[in-house]
Amino acid sequence: MDRSEKKVIIITGLVLSLFIFSILYARGKTNDLPECVPFDKTYTEPKVTKLDNKTYQVYAVAKMWQFEPSQIYILLGSEVDFFLTSKDVVHGFNISDKNVNMMAVYGNINKTTVKFDKPGVYKITCHEYCGVGHQTMQAEVIVNDPASK
Ligand code: CUA
Repeated sequence: MDRSEKKVIIITGLVLSLFIFSILYARGKTNDLPECVPFDKTYTEPKVTKLDNKTYQVYAVAKMWQFEPSQIYILLGSEVDFFLTSKDVVHGFNISDKNVNMMAVYGNINKTTVKFDKPGVYKITCHEYCGVGHQTMQAEVIVNDPASK
């Protein structure tokens, strides 16, 4: 075998191992991907439900030009299922520092799960132009550390 052939085989092997390693490394590290949930009218009523000390369900409703509920209080370390819909046009749903980017669409429910490990205020903003009040469309998730009280 020629020396340059050997080199090519070794380099190919290294690149391939790096590729396989990257896939294995990334596995399980991604966010919970947004998914579609079958539409049900109950999701159009905004609410926050505390299932236990570490789990919440939020029914988030977007409409011109606000999110409901506009303030969501949760305890530090909680996991929150967001169920999102719109009452009118298409709105965006972005949670700062959380890599959440969903669309609120009339007649559809989008769901994602987010874990809040750091206390603070996480801004929710509409990132889809939805009319004259678009830039005022905000809400927030307030994460409290029970130990800090
Ligand atoms: Cu809602 Cu922009």
